[in-house]
Amino acid sequence: MNIPLAQPDITQREIDAVVDVLHTPTLSIGPRIAAFEEACAKVAGRRHAVGVSSGTAGLHCAMIAAGVGEGHEVITTPFSFVASANCILYVNAKPVFVDIDPQTLNMDVDKVAAAITPRTKAIVAVEVFGHPGGMIELEQLAQKQELTLIEDACEGFGGHVGERHIGSFGRAGVFAFYPNKQITTGEGGMIVTDDDTFAATCRALRNQGREGMEWLAHQRLGYNYRLSEINAALGLAQVGRLEEILANRRRVAQLYIERLMTNRYLILPTLQDDTHMSWFVFVVRLNDLFDPGDRDQIMQDLRDVGIGCNNYFPPIHLQPYMVERFGSKPGDFPVCEYVAARTLALPFFGQMTARQVNHVCTTLEKALEKTLVGKKGRF
Ligand SMILES: Cc1ncc(COP(=O)(O)O)c(C=O)c1O
Repeated sequence: MNIPLAQPDITQREIDAVVDVLHTPTLSIGPRIAAFEEACAKVAGRRHAVGVSSGTAGLHCAMIAAGVGEGHEVITTPFSFVASANCILYVNAKPVFVDIDPQTLNMDVDKVAAAITPRTKAIVAVEVFGHPGGMIELEQLAQKQELTLIEDACEGFGGHVGERHIGSFGRAGVFAFYPNKQITTGEGGMIVTDDDTFAATCRALRNQGREGMEWLAHQRLGYNYRLSEINAALGLAQVGRLEEILANRRRVAQLYIERLMTNRYLILPTLQDDTHMSWFVFVVRLNDLFDPGDRDQIMQDLRDVGIGCNNYFPPIHLQPYMVERFGSKPGDFPVCEYVAARTLALPFFGQMTARQVNHVCTTLEKALEKTLVGKKGRF
């Protein structure tokens, strides 16, 4: 039974929506992007949404619109997909990493306070795996310290803490719609904000620096970060099914939790009162009986029988280009490194059946036992 790590949730509704666009002459800059933006603003509880070609493009625009540049430091997490730190490098600022909370896997808010210097301009906070834990506290800290908070909400579309939606924290949030995300546009992203000027700047940045309607008048240096009508139509159909899509993902997460809850070798995602994850991936953690290398062997065992899995996330500060540029080294962020060596993303998508979940769990349990038997002499 081959089971992929992720799979988009595409129905005839999405296929029809994309085909419909192809029957029109407007394949870019048209009504679909406007409607998709309006729908995403609503999901995030924001006044504005600006569609862009990827989450990375959205983060890049957000850094520029926030006025981050040369000589600035930006506080962020080392436990994320690289784009959350790369956007800081794109504007020639310095990422200052802060270690993570071992429960939520998001930045440890107490450590953020200690990392602030006179050069700190902004904070890029990530809801890792769709978990919004700590965001309320981080927003309060950013306000008190007069720092711009940008939410890398690329993994959290549709999640919330109490009444607050993921994407509604700080000055702006950025979503991503790659096919492994909760909803997809193939490639795509969305910047959400309540700030009129910030939104207008992002609109100009994504459209070659145009601030008005005239095609060859460029008021500032910009990019082609537009999202086509084809992508937007797909996104619009997906966001129209958001409740159903998120409910399916919650169902699969619940199946995993029920099946693995009693496994004494695994640490499952931490669920907190009032914190509603938007399930992006299902990541389990090996406990202390395992050495870091064990996780890679267990991943291999799963892959050998056709089960997709991955090591979400290797620490960003230990990626070769970061080591070369900043001299970062193992031991710099011990909680992140400890967690990163033991996390394992299992197959996760809305259409997974109970039988598939059971097969993944049984195979995983066998791989765990096999690893521990190999160590027997040590215990
Ligand atoms: C935390 C985080 N930030 C940024 C991105 C970048 O999004 P994209 O792949 O659409 O550029 C991703 C996507 O994987 C992500 O998970």
